Amino acid sequence: MESATGLPPIDCDTPSALLLCRGHDNLSQGRARTTKNGELGKDLRSQRRCFAPDGDAKNFHYAPMPPSPVSLSPHSPMTFYSRASVYSAFFAPSDQMKGSIDRLAKFALKRAPKSVLDPCCGPGLWLEHFAKKGCVVAGSDLQAPAVASAEARLAGMRAVVAQGDMRDPPALLGASFDLCINLDNSIGHLGCREDVIAHFIAMRARMQPKSAYILGCAIREADDVIIAETVYERGPIEVAGGGFAALRTETLGIDPETRCERIRQWTMSAHVPECPPLIIEQYDLLTFGIAQWKEMFEASGGWEVLQCCDATTESLPSRPFTRGAGDVVLLLRPRIAATRKKSTRASATKKAPLKKPSRTLRKR
Ligand SMILES: C[S@@+](CC[C@H](N)C(=O)[O-])C[C@H]1O[C@@H](n2cnc3c(N)ncnc32)[C@H](O)[C@@H]1O
Repeated sequence: MESATGLPPIDCDTPSALLLCRGHDNLSQGRARTTKNGELGKDLRSQRRCFAPDGDAKNFHYAPMPPSPVSLSPHSPMTFYSRASVYSAFFAPSDQMKGSIDRLAKFALKRAPKSVLDPCCGPGLWLEHFAKKGCVVAGSDLQAPAVASAEARLAGMRAVVAQGDMRDPPALLGASFDLCINLDNSIGHLGCREDVIAHFIAMRARMQPKSAYILGCAIREADDVIIAETVYERGPIEVAGGGFAALRTETLGIDPETRCERIRQWTMSAHVPECPPLIIEQYDLLTFGIAQWKEMFEASGGWEVLQCCDATTESLPSRPFTRGAGDVVLLLRPRIAATRKKSTRASATKKAPLKKPSRTLRKR
């Protein structure tokens, strides 16, 4: 059957076919995910129909992909992350998201941050945001191509970037940061609880006492169920440096034994330099229940949860830091060591009346 374009009909579910669609990049905007009611999945399915070629024919190009190398890397997120231009095309933070993060930083610091560290900086998208505001920024990432991309993005700004592991970010990045940021559950790429604790200890060592850590993570209980579905879908969109790409991320649910969430990601591209047309990756992200998060905070020296926000909405609305909170952004502050607190309190008792202890967890 022929369509209005004279081209064969498109089966959008066939990964070996890539539809390039100029001006129609809104298959799904944002990085929302719904795990409970599946509404986003429904929207995606209906929106996908806008791919039918008999719509705005002049804007549609159908490009059947030739047999080509497929990168399939089970349990490794590395291929997509090493395609910095493609990553940046999809995950450059929106103005709304930037505003939400700035609001959290201001809530914690009572002023704009001066120095910012991202220990999983990827191509430096968040570092760029803060560098443009005049902050000194530093970042590290496991992926050399991501680090190279961050370096290029931050050239001429007050920035230092290096390759390194979030469990012990390179010393050359410096210390005494007043803000750390690590979004999108990058911490879930670590291997186990001990890795997460090592990461928190390393971050404390690089932070000022009254600083803040904005952390994206997943709070899931052992009995939480995640329905397998598409959680993010967007494109094709233009990629800076050339070409187009489309991305689909699916959750395959939680492995009951490891408690990891299994993610499958499809990256389809055309004419993007050094990027295979199809990358299918499957990897596992660590998740922990609320009690485990609290235990890991204690085991790494203590962290106050100043705010817990719903990460599925870019306005980052507050939500309780409780069981099954799901994908969240936590605003954390390293707790000051008990001995220091005690001595401050002792001298305060002598010299001035005791102040009310500050509330660390907002009541809802
Ligand atoms: C979801 S991306 C986040 C990138 C960046 N923070 C942003 O918000 O755009 C996750 C990043 O974590 C990096 N990563 C994964 N494991 C890491 C580790 N152990 N140490 C440092 N970086 C790691 C990946 O290479 C990838 O660039």
